[in-house]
Amino acid sequence: MGLILVNLDPQARPFAEIAAAAIPEIQDYAPNLGNYHHAARTERQAKANWKVVAENFNECYHCAVVHKTLTTGVVDPDAYRTRGHSYGIRHVSPARPDERKSYSYVADPTAKTDKFLTWWFFPLFALQIYPGGIVNTYRWKPLSVNQTKIEVDWWLPEATPNAVEAEIIHQHRTTTFAEDGPIVDSVQRGLESGGFDTGPLLVDAGCTSQSEHPIMAFLSQYRDAMA
Ligand SMILES: [Fe+2]
Repeated sequence: MGLILVNLDPQARPFAEIAAAAIPEIQDYAPNLGNYHHAARTERQAKANWKVVAENFNECYHCAVVHKTLTTGVVDPDAYRTRGHSYGIRHVSPARPDERKSYSYVADPTAKTDKFLTWWFFPLFALQIYPGGIVNTYRWKPLSVNQTKIEVDWWLPEATPNAVEAEIIHQHRTTTFAEDGPIVDSVQRGLESGGFDTGPLLVDAGCTSQSEHPIMAFLSQYRDAMA
């Protein structure tokens, strides 16, 4: 895949084995990833437990309300689908058509640059391919019970972003990435208030963006890891 992933657990299974289904798809949509350069980083510190941040990242029930730029100009919320796997969660959406797009990407199906694709890997890593074949990775670093460092690294064919790449890096930093900050912080405050109780998850069979089944997948993965 072109990235070097380090796990300090000597008993850890090889990532290539765990992510056997994800890697070919990532290579399909970013075939030159092995030659990409680190081009930019966006980071912030959430005042929230890492599991709150992971749930927020993986459910898109909130996207249409919170992430207007993403859902009107990058992905199609009606076609956005998520599905849990034993080791992670896959998100996929067709790119917005030209007249709707929020940055100047080329969504060419023959060049495989026409999708928004995310593979989140339990517990603290994700790789996203934005329309246009623009790649970022997420790392979440738990700092304490209620603080998590979030790092987004952008990987591009050249170390200096071109105009389109700079556009989406800036747009992501100032919209989607920034918009989740107050949400996870407020969820954490709610949990710490003592007023939180368990409740049903909204799930639909179509695995649409209106469904909270990714939360079920995450909680199953967490339960299995803790068993
Ligand atoms: Fe979000």
